[in-house]
Amino acid sequence: MTRLVCVSNRISLPRKSAAPGGLAVGVLSALKRTGGLWFGWGGETIDKEPGDPALPVREGVTYATIELRRREFDLYYNGYANEVLWPLFHYFLKGMRYSTEQHDAYQSVNQLFAERLLPLLQPKDLIWVHDYHLIPLGRQLRERGVRRPLGFFLHIPFPNIEMLRVLPPYADLLHDLTHYDVVGFQTENDLTAFHAGITHLFGKEAIRSDGRIRIGERTVRAEVFPIGVDVNTLQAEAFQAMSSDVVRRMYDSLMGRQLMMGVDRLDYSKGLVERFSAYQHFLEAYPQYSGHITYLQIAPLSRTDVRAYAEIRQSLEQATGRTNGRFADTDWTPIRYLNRNFPHATLMGMLRAANVGLVTPLRDGMNLVAKEFVAAQNPEDPGVLILSTLAGAARELDAALLVNPYDVRAVGHAIKVALSMPRGERRERHANMLEVLRRNDIATWSRRFVEALEKSVPAPVRIAG
Ligand code: F6P
Repeated sequence: MTRLVCVSNRISLPRKSAAPGGLAVGVLSALKRTGGLWFGWGGETIDKEPGDPALPVREGVTYATIELRRREFDLYYNGYANEVLWPLFHYFLKGMRYSTEQHDAYQSVNQLFAERLLPLLQPKDLIWVHDYHLIPLGRQLRERGVRRPLGFFLHIPFPNIEMLRVLPPYADLLHDLTHYDVVGFQTENDLTAFHAGITHLFGKEAIRSDGRIRIGERTVRAEVFPIGVDVNTLQAEAFQAMSSDVVRRMYDSLMGRQLMMGVDRLDYSKGLVERFSAYQHFLEAYPQYSGHITYLQIAPLSRTDVRAYAEIRQSLEQATGRTNGRFADTDWTPIRYLNRNFPHATLMGMLRAANVGLVTPLRDGMNLVAKEFVAAQNPEDPGVLILSTLAGAARELDAALLVNPYDVRAVGHAIKVALSMPRGERRERHANMLEVLRRNDIATWSRRFVEALEKSVPAPVRIAG
């Protein structure tokens, strides 16, 4: 029997205290369906040589967690992954700081992943690597003799070649991606950008008429696999959580006001500064809403050791203070800004209670909060989604109110349109989006990817060790 092996930088063991991110939800949905192994960093850094992985098993899934050396982790995760690749792939060159030291640490952590994963592999495994932290892992595994199907899925955007070329070792990055049998992207845009990179490096002839990429002996299937959500589970979760204590208290505290809500990791790519300023424009332009709307922004802290994240945090604290200082009343706070996380079900319950969901990233691979907001709504009386055209989700959810997140006046106006939208139009837009979610849900996403991986040319098994 084949076994699915997923590999990602961070592993999240099932727990109730915090909402898992999109990657974790996707990986878990794939592994829970088939059983298998999830290999990655367990969240601990140490000062000595990392030992063998711990292998706890939960609900049919084996979690192989490794530790990383503190200094190396800092250069690899805070450095190369989040000060080089993340800003570059999200088109934020201002936040990018390249150094060869970081690049070397990125390579050596990928090497460590390959070395520690190798002894755990079985002859019939399908190996699915996730996200930008682990691009070289496929090559590292191939160099160690792994011939089983290897897939890579990029959860974040893939930049166009003119942006990618800013990265000194951009050619190595493209080369590394060609060591996978299947390379998956969130949107057509990302795939087109990847093709442009391949053409730039290997010439037009590398892309065959059937869309496959041929480099020497290797054939790569590069395709779009937009990540989805588990609609039924989210609907049930949202419905039940409405009666939970936390959601009820939040709802009662609104005192009949309309609720607008955002849920984002605290990251500059999420466009929170622009969003706050759009809200300020809204309050200025439509004073009739003063005292009648509450904007609840949940923004758990993230990557706190990276400078750009500390800076954005400070800007948001100032922006919240400015708006509340200027518009608040003795019995009304315009923005409730929380740097904490909640269990997933609680978030779903809050999203269901919201009249408006604000999802306005400046650039985003997909953005599952947009999809979760739609799934959480009561179809009879749904809230309105305001969605950035620069989020991957906008490709599918075109019945949302689409906005350019940099155009703060337009976003302010969209808030007004959303708050006053008649129920008939809300229902129509929502039904359209729900249908899209059902057509391409999370099970479809993982099934399509795994099927593509299964179909990739099987080579003789030779696992070194
Ligand atoms: O979706 C991008 C991503 O980097 C995922 O790989 C990760 O699960 C999530 O964002 C959270 O990021 P981090 O692990 O850096 O907190």
